[in-house]
Amino acid sequence: MTTRRPPVSDRGGEALDLLLNVVLFRGMPSNMLLELAQKLRPVRYRAHTDIFHEGDEGATLYIILKGAVKIFIPSLDGREVVLAVHRKYDLLGEMSLLDDHPRSASATTIEDTEAVSLSRHDFLSVLDRHPEAQRAIIDVLVARLRATNQSIQDAYLLDVPGRLARRLLTIAEEHGEETEDGVDIGLRVSQQELANMIGASRVAVNKQLQQWRKQKIVDVNRQRVTIVNVTALQREYALSQ
Ligand code: CMP
Repeated sequence: MTTRRPPVSDRGGEALDLLLNVVLFRGMPSNMLLELAQKLRPVRYRAHTDIFHEGDEGATLYIILKGAVKIFIPSLDGREVVLAVHRKYDLLGEMSLLDDHPRSASATTIEDTEAVSLSRHDFLSVLDRHPEAQRAIIDVLVARLRATNQSIQDAYLLDVPGRLARRLLTIAEEHGEETEDGVDIGLRVSQQELANMIGASRVAVNKQLQQWRKQKIVDVNRQRVTIVNVTALQREYALSQ
């Protein structure tokens, strides 16, 4: 369920703070930022809502402000390959706007999510009028290519424990929070979703998590994964290489 709300500029100074944190708009003069704030539309999605599907025509860029969005390619038999999880201030849907091809992947929220959307015309006009934004988009695309290269390398060279250890450590590095029990990885994901991220079966992921739980390396409580012993999990990754 999506709720459309008035432009972001109606929220006053909050709008500028928000835009200043988005890589695409860094260094943009404040008059241009204010003008842009008029064009951003806030959208909200409940967890597990489809934002768009692979193959759809792409007319909109999204900037996530809160929550988490899974980017994946679905297969005909219902499985999916998870390419990335985008979070606060990440851009979503820029590829179709840049190359005018259909959406390259599907996007579904995995947490309640708030975002702002920008039309293709306004996005392209930001790029035309603000050269730093072109550089920022190149940086975003290069970072995504590097992360994708790493995933391909992992898929070929690591076994399931190695891939799972690495993925949990990476998620924790980006979003983790220290707690009394260890590092909460900061993303609520099902074991099926973890499996889809590393190209393994849910059964294999479950078996590995149970083993690490017994060894007090991780703790799993519903969709909450806590790394209890970071050094031991790093060792699991190192052993797999
Ligand atoms: P677009 O192709 O318009 O729609 C799907 C979006 O998913 C795409 O734009 C990017 O924003 C994002 N996306 C696609 N592939 C990847 C990837 N490998 N890593 C991170 N994000 C991606």
